[in-house]
Formats: sequence, structure tokens, C-alpha cells
Amino acid sequence: MAAVAHRIATSLPLLKDEPGPNAERFDLESRLATLAPTLDLEAEIQRLRKERNAVILAHYYQEGEIQDLADHLGDSLQLAQAARKTTADVIVFCGVHFMAETAKILNPDRIVVVPDMDAGCSLADGCKGSDLAAWKASHPQHAVVSYINCTAEVKALSDVIVTSSNAEKIVRGFEPGRPLLFAPDRNLGAWLVKKTGREMTLWQGACVVHEQFSEKAIVQLREKWERTAGSVEILAHPECEAPILRHADFIGSTTALLNRAKASSAKALIVATEPGILHQMKRARPDVTFLDVPSEDAACGCNNCPHMKRNTLEKLYLCLRDLKPRLEMDSELMNRARVPIERMLSLS
Ligand code: 13P
Ligand code: SF4
Repeated sequence: MAAVAHRIATSLPLLKDEPGPNAERFDLESRLATLAPTLDLEAEIQRLRKERNAVILAHYYQEGEIQDLADHLGDSLQLAQAARKTTADVIVFCGVHFMAETAKILNPDRIVVVPDMDAGCSLADGCKGSDLAAWKASHPQHAVVSYINCTAEVKALSDVIVTSSNAEKIVRGFEPGRPLLFAPDRNLGAWLVKKTGREMTLWQGACVVHEQFSEKAIVQLREKWERTAGSVEILAHPECEAPILRHADFIGSTTALLNRAKASSAKALIVATEPGILHQMKRARPDVTFLDVPSEDAACGCNNCPHMKRNTLEKLYLCLRDLKPRLEMDSELMNRARVPIERMLSLS
């Protein structure tokens, strides 16, 4: 009964009784099933983080209860910077796999755990290292600029990594005339081309969350709230498609959107990104009405990142208690992937 309750609570698929090839998933499910419902998870997490000398890094798209427990809460760049600086023995990464990989690459001798190792990313999944290698080989004069939302294999083939916070500055920094490949997000890439005037050849990947926002819903929300609240602003992440970005009053990374929300004089803010960020926005501006944007299929709740939301408080507790699932990576791959990440950090 407890196992069923946990599966329902964590929206995980039912598993067979035997571990088989999905041993890590089976192991996590089994440990979840043994958790006492009366356990004070917050208190246990506080106790274990001290005992383990652990640091909890969390992205703004995590559930509010995880955000509230983080030592460092941030966007992709801030979390990479925090990982670079930490002296903790254990890094608990409450985000997705590519972010934890970045933390491990910057801390190869530390233990890096992720509450749910299946927390992936459609952008990273849509660009295999072998495919990027072939693309790069067919453009031998080009420098490769990769968005941090990519695998370690792709990072290892890149000249520099960027996030949505620093991409504009880094792209502008390339010598004029140097041809550029940009992977894997075509929407961020197209926005950068428009912003910088710099031609880039784009990999055709996209984020499953940001590409689904409904333009019609944004227009209707603006009309409705202009009538009701008087002043409305639309904030959007550059992973959104061009028709959504066209309506935006402000475009920026997750942290830039939060800062804009803090400073805005509008009475209502329509936020076209993953709604996890609303937890901090609402806390910072209780006087403002925040509206998230529905997807084309309003019934599906697709504006929530299914990968980010795999992490739960129960799984955070378990990974601190058992120090697993643990990220292990090939050291030669980490050495190669570290070079463009360090280059990004030095340019940020
Ligand atoms: P930032 O946190 O860098 O804005 O990126 C958003 C995102 O989609 C993370 O996966
Ligand atoms: Fe990847 Fe999009 Fe989820 Fe970010 S929101 S982790 S880009 S799928």
C-alpha cells in the first residue's frame, strides 16, 4: 500500500518486481516504498546535510519545498558558479542530469547525487555527441558554441559553453567573421542571432516545455489583465519560440526574469517560462498578480518541466541518506568537457 501511495505521489510508472536493466529505478522505488509516512523530511534533510557536509544546489524550476531547503538556488549559470566554489564533500543537485554533470565535471573528486537520476532534458536528449561530432566535421572552419543544456559528450566537442545569462556577451566576443555553430536550442540561437546580428548555423533542438506555450493564450491573458489590472508586462525565457518572444516586454534567463519581476511597476506579470520560478517571484512581489502561460493543450499541464519535477522531497531525503543515485563519469570525458565550461566561467 505504501509503495502504491509513493508511486502515486511521485507519478512514477509501476515497475516489475525484478530489477532487470532498470536496476537504479527499481532501487529508488524500493527505497521510496519503505519510507515511513510520519517521517519529518525537512528535519531529516537538515540533519543529514550537516552530517554529510553536503551542499544542496537547486534550480528555480524545482518544487517550492525543495527551493526552500537549498543552500544555493539559481539559474544554470549561478548553479555552475556555486558548484565551482563549493568546498562541501557532497553535492546534492536538485535539477536535471546535465546540470549535475556540470557540477561533477567541476568537482571530479566529490560525490554528486541527484534525487532522481532520470531527470533529463529534451534539449540534451536531442543532440547526441556522435551527431554533433559529424556536424562539426562538416563545418571545419566553425567554432562550436553550446548551450549548457547538453550532454558532457557535446560539451567536450564545444569551444565554449553558454547559458541564457551570458550567451549574448560570449557570442559578441567572437572575432568578426569567425563562422559559428550553435547547439542545441534553435530558439535561443535564433534570439541570439536577432540580438547580436551575428550569423550562426543552428542545431534544430527545442525545449519541450518552452516550445509549447500558446500564443493565443498570451494575447488573451494580456487583454484580460489590461482591463482588470491596468498595467501588464509579459516576461519570457529565450527558449520560447519566436511568436511568443514577439509579445514579450522583457526576455531573459530565469534569474533575469526574477530580477525584472522584482523591479517591474506593472500590476500583473505574465510569465512565459516554467512556473517553478513563480515561487520566488510571488515571495518577492506579493503586491503583483503573477500568471503562468498555458500550453497549446491547456489540459495537459505541459508548462511544468516533467524532468525537473521528478525530484521530490522524499527523493532528496533518500539521496542524502544513502548517497545515491550517484553520478559517475569517465575522467577523460570530464577533462575535455571542463575546458569549455571553465572558458564560460571565466567570461561570465
Ligand atoms: P536558465 O536557468 O539558465 O535560465 O535555463 C532555463 C532552463 O531551461 C534550465 O533547464
Ligand atoms: Fe530541459 Fe526544458 Fe526542462 Fe529546462 S525546462 S530542463 S530546457 S526540458
